[in-house]
Amino acid sequence: MMAEVPFHREFEQVLFLRDGRRAARAIVALHSTRLGPAFGGIRRWRYRGDEEALRDVLELARTMTWKCALADLPAGGGKAVILDEPGLDRRAAYELVGDAVAALGGRFHTGPDAGTTDADLRIVAERTRYCPGTGHGDIGGSTAHGVFAALRACARAIGRDLDGLEVLVQGVGAVGHRLCERLAVAGAKLIVADVDAGAADRVASAHGARVVAPAEALRTGCDLFVPCALGGVLDTAVAASLPARAVCGAANNVLADDEAGRILHARGIPVAPDFVANAGGLIHGVMVHQDGREPDAARLDRIGDVTAELLARSRREDVPPRELAVAVARARVAGA
Ligand code: NAI
Repeated sequence: MMAEVPFHREFEQVLFLRDGRRAARAIVALHSTRLGPAFGGIRRWRYRGDEEALRDVLELARTMTWKCALADLPAGGGKAVILDEPGLDRRAAYELVGDAVAALGGRFHTGPDAGTTDADLRIVAERTRYCPGTGHGDIGGSTAHGVFAALRACARAIGRDLDGLEVLVQGVGAVGHRLCERLAVAGAKLIVADVDAGAADRVASAHGARVVAPAEALRTGCDLFVPCALGGVLDTAVAASLPARAVCGAANNVLADDEAGRILHARGIPVAPDFVANAGGLIHGVMVHQDGREPDAARLDRIGDVTAELLARSRREDVPPRELAVAVARARVAGA
């Protein structure tokens, strides 16, 4: 199976976990601890097979390394996935991961991700002190703060200010609705799309946003497209036709692949690398854990400076921003 996942040789350690008595399987991947202990959440997901689960955990862990490196954190990349198979013993699965994290003795610190609730995290925290459990402050607020700093940098990259800018926010959940609040204060003209019509309507009435149907989000003209719903929305076909002048949001892996990034770059549309723009939550989690305090505004605003620098260099060197960001992160890790 490993042979079919070409980049697995980059990894420090990959653990395949199975409870001997109960129905529970999981994979833990440590990509790199060169800059510091690995950080990454636990995802519980119904995969189509083991290979898909392995690919997911490896890709997520590797992205965490790049994210830490560009956020200037003394931390590296890891991730855990629980294979959500029929009959899964959920408690057993979180205990399994908790025991593996404990055995890693501080090389991996874990927390929430898709499919993992506060109750699940409390189970992990019973087994290891390298999972904070819950109650670590407003992580979503820190993510939104960082994305907003990156949005400003994107607006500048297209020669504009947020005031009067037409901004389409796809997904107005925990992060998206907070961005809308900040964007409205900054004078942006908001357009919102959400599969939850009530959520979109609430933002519309609070901030005078125009609502478009979810299916129209990628076809509606705007200055800035802000994906805050799900990943992979920009595939090659969408990249060729997206009627926006710049892209920057919270969603992970918003580019389906590097080719989509190249198409947008060739069209002169700057795309802020998602793992740079959405690092505020990670900065929050790592700082609370390592320094016992939350990041202040200046620390989170640095995300805007890093984004601005990457977008300027991307133009100068004619390299798509995401590819450039990965190269910078790789060099930082290699030089550690
Ligand atoms: P959330 O689950 O609170 O909000 C997502 C929103 O998107 C929901 O309102 C949902 O109804 C909507 N949505 C789902 N599918 C949609 C579609 N096809 N079209 C339009 N809207 C759709 O999630 P949250 O926490 O706001 O995160 C947003 C994105 O940012 C996610 O992709 C998440 O993985 C990513 N992210 C979040 C971080 C955080 O601190 N919350 C940190 C880093 C990344």
